[in-house]
Amino acid sequence: MTEPKGEKIDHPNGACFNTTLPAPLPDEYKEVAWAIPSFDKATNQPKPIEPIWIARPNIGPNQVRFEMLYCGVCHSDTHCGNNDWGGCVYPFVGGHELLGKVTEIGEGVTKVKVGDLVGVGCMVDSCLKCQYCQNDEEQYCANGMTMTWNSPKTHGRVLGNPETYTHGGYSGSSVTHEHFIIKIPDSMDIQRAAPILCAGITLWDPIRYHGLVDGPKKVVGVAGLGGLGTMGVKFASTLGHKVVAISTSANKEFMAKEKGATGFVVTTDPYSLKANAGTMDIIFNTISANHDINTYLPLLKTGGTIVMLGGVAAPHTVYQMGLMFQRKTITGSLIGGVKATQEVIDFCSKHSIYPDIKLIRARELNDTWKALSEGKGDGVRFVIDVKASLEDESFLPK
Ligand SMILES: NC(=O)c1ccc[n+]([C@@H]2O[C@H](COP(=O)([O-])OP(=O)(O)OC[C@H]3O[C@@H](n4cnc5c(N)ncnc54)[C@H](OP(=O)(O)O)[C@@H]3O)[C@@H](O)[C@H]2O)c1
Ligand SMILES: [Zn+2]
Ligand SMILES: [Zn+2]
Repeated sequence: MTEPKGEKIDHPNGACFNTTLPAPLPDEYKEVAWAIPSFDKATNQPKPIEPIWIARPNIGPNQVRFEMLYCGVCHSDTHCGNNDWGGCVYPFVGGHELLGKVTEIGEGVTKVKVGDLVGVGCMVDSCLKCQYCQNDEEQYCANGMTMTWNSPKTHGRVLGNPETYTHGGYSGSSVTHEHFIIKIPDSMDIQRAAPILCAGITLWDPIRYHGLVDGPKKVVGVAGLGGLGTMGVKFASTLGHKVVAISTSANKEFMAKEKGATGFVVTTDPYSLKANAGTMDIIFNTISANHDINTYLPLLKTGGTIVMLGGVAAPHTVYQMGLMFQRKTITGSLIGGVKATQEVIDFCSKHSIYPDIKLIRARELNDTWKALSEGKGDGVRFVIDVKASLEDESFLPK
């Protein structure tokens, strides 16, 4: 992949890049966004989030323009923006749980019409030709999906200046090809629907893949009770499984049981770990920070599976003989395809399943990111009220 144009900054997690956003081209319009403007070499930290102007593409064939109403704040926004994974291109506009209302459609659009509620999750393009795209798993595109943020515009369905990387949903509006648009039923609570577009689908897809939607009832562990984990608890319990929440925080037991867990493991308590050893068929591990997987593997039954979901960059060390003697599986899963994302939205709409959220304005993003990075999200998903943020003149670009 060609490197973005700009200043390359060496970083222990992988180089990041400071770039200058060009003025909007004739086929682009100017939009408000909240971004990390650059990486500060003096402090060796990204600068705080601030309001900036970005360019969005004018409408083209098969494109949908929507005004942003709400955008969820995912821990992945903070990982990428803080360069935890390397490769962050600044200015970085986070947000991949976009929920809005269609204001304009391009020629040929059939999926939605002006006035419809729509969502966009973590992807805005992929090749749509490879075996994975053809199998409705665009997230595993053999030619690389284009993410909603921090991605080069590779496959031609993201319009606008080809040299700028994609900008996420912390912004007043966006334009997306209809293939990657998710239809949001009018009856949904749209503030709370936004996080389903990442936190929801990221749990739904492996739940579906591992046969837990229609298959026999199992004992399902969910490790890490944040934005993703709490959705896992709600889905697995709604589907009739016995759910055991696994947390570092003893004070989350009540919250986990309110959301549908019947069991609770505190990983800081050796007795709690011992009492639950060998009891779980599958564990969905949503932990966001470096941790020791060997704390969790003994909780699985023989033949059990742990599904790694957190954006943890540090490698794990695993005792292979332990896996062999109990035929355990360590696997992973990445978000979900467009079809599955529509499926989970429709499932949540039908069963009234929503994350517990806290609405914020854009000016609170820096504090929100800090709380998530410190593991203090408290099991709620923070969601930006974009309309209210656009009225907050003290946090708009000059
Ligand atoms: N696979 C994918 O496609 C995908 C999609 C979206 C996000 N992600 C990743 O999934 C992770 C979770 O995202 P999120 O938005 O749910 O984050 P979150 O709301 O911050 O929740 C993360 C949870 O992890 C636990 N945790 C934090 N630090 C820990 C530590 N040092 N040791 C053990 N547990 C710790 C905490 O739960 P307790 O207090 O209960 O211990 C915390 O609530 C992130 O890394 C994110 O990048 C992956
Ligand atoms: Zn996410
Ligand atoms: Zn593909």
